[in-house]
Amino acid sequence: MIVKPCDVLVLGSGIAGLSFAISLASRRPDLSVRICSKTGQTACNTWYAQGGIAAVTDRDRDAFEDHIRDTIQAGGGYCNEQVVRAVVEDAPGCIASLSQWGVPFDRTPAGAWDTGLEGGHSYPRILHCADRTGAYIIRSLLHYAKRLDNITFHSGFFATDLIIRDRQCFGVYYLDERSGIPKSCPAKITYLATGGSGQLFRVTTNPAIATGDGVAMAHRAGARVEHMGFYQFHPTAFSGAKSNPAFLISEAVRGFGAHVINRQEKRFLFEYDPRGELATRDIVSRAIWLECRKNHTAHVYLDCRHLNRKAFLHAFPAIAAHCRQAGYDLFKTPVPVMPAAHYQCGGIAIDLQGRTTIGNLYANGECACSGLHGANRLASNSLLEAVAIARRAAGNVLSGIDDLASPVIHQEKKPGISASAETGPDKIIYLRQQLQKVMYDAYVSGITGTVPAENTGTEQLSQETDKLLRHRAPSKSSYELRNLLTVARMIS
Ligand code: FAD
Ligand code: SIN
Repeated sequence: MIVKPCDVLVLGSGIAGLSFAISLASRRPDLSVRICSKTGQTACNTWYAQGGIAAVTDRDRDAFEDHIRDTIQAGGGYCNEQVVRAVVEDAPGCIASLSQWGVPFDRTPAGAWDTGLEGGHSYPRILHCADRTGAYIIRSLLHYAKRLDNITFHSGFFATDLIIRDRQCFGVYYLDERSGIPKSCPAKITYLATGGSGQLFRVTTNPAIATGDGVAMAHRAGARVEHMGFYQFHPTAFSGAKSNPAFLISEAVRGFGAHVINRQEKRFLFEYDPRGELATRDIVSRAIWLECRKNHTAHVYLDCRHLNRKAFLHAFPAIAAHCRQAGYDLFKTPVPVMPAAHYQCGGIAIDLQGRTTIGNLYANGECACSGLHGANRLASNSLLEAVAIARRAAGNVLSGIDDLASPVIHQEKKPGISASAETGPDKIIYLRQQLQKVMYDAYVSGITGTVPAENTGTEQLSQETDKLLRHRAPSKSSYELRNLLTVARMIS
């Protein structure tokens, strides 16, 4: 079945999708913009963002050059300097846009932006909404977008593949959650904002939707994908019983003065880097794994006992509440923490306008790779990148969309999976968990250099999965597993 075409199809209702849709639809009320998400509108990585968004707003004490240098230093020689400069210089404009769309960034009693410090930053330049920045961003942007008549929303829309002819994109094939029927959605412009792939790993801060769908679809369509080997682990996820997703304890807590200690209650990070708790994530995560190995422990601890209780509770109410519910009073007991898979630094190759290597196909956010992050993203640069590229992509789409004809889709693509023998979902869940274990173990071993980084498990899992999927009715979980395996092969 083919649904009514739209001008612009946005896949994803996280920050990259919403900020693009708003930038575009508010300037051209005659264009139809459809925002799709595979489950609910708030089920996305953005919702969980805590620390905030990096921007040079205090030009008397901070400078673009410093933010640029910090980003490049964190990226380990793999950043595109031209992209870094453009995004950093766009940041004040991005903050102005987000504020205009209703995001209530915190201010000091004197009315200035209340900014925090995070690892790798040489100045406290992180704007935030207490420790629930992402949830405030999504709520505000959804509210704003819903007031624009030319934006429509479609939840339960699981995109499975891009519609490609002659290296041009004409929309997507998708599974409609309500009917379970594969359908086609034609569009003049398709914009991928499908987020990351943290669900590849046994321990991750990413919610269940983060299965790398956009990267896998783009790869199958022949788009260029870059830097997938650079997967970032966040050093301090709460090491409680539930590890997938693991609750994050923001880097801003270390910026506020919390210490990382080992089981002898010793601060050990200075042995690995002179910046201690405020070194970049790759360094802190690796140091924590090595320390655990040395001491035969499963985690280290975040110590907040020396911090000002009132100020802490003002800055981090949600984190304090989560720890309390899990049985930890942050002001009396150090909290167990471990690194968790957090951010996909690579992705679909894009330029500063969000253009991919396929015609009429754009990408942005965590599924994309603009060259900003290099091998290791600087804290709080992800939300910034999403808004900066979204605003530029909207301008680029507007300059060319009137020359594009409405796409005509002649024939349905038959789903590549036979609808005959339905296998129980248990096997899919089992294979997904096996993949998460294999990927996590291989990654940690590779980073800590304890055994060869070669990942031997994914090939066998791929074969088992291919065999299973050949005889299985199409479903969201089977497509997700296929996408995770595609991404795993790109990372390994
Ligand atoms: P997402 O917000 O993940 O949105 C993806 C969207 O794509 C969803 O709507 C989903 O339904 C949709 N989708 C996916 N697959 C399909 C499909 N097949 N069909 C249809 N729709 C699909 N970064 C910072 O800069 N600052 C922070 O403070 C910060 N804190 C973080 C804290 C946590 C716990 C996590 C997990 C990440 C954090 N990050 C932070 C990273 C940042 O939040 C993400 O990189 C960013 O929000 C990604 O935005 P996005 O729009 O690209 O993707
Ligand atoms: C955090 O709050 O520590 C997350 C920030 C980020 O991922 O950039």
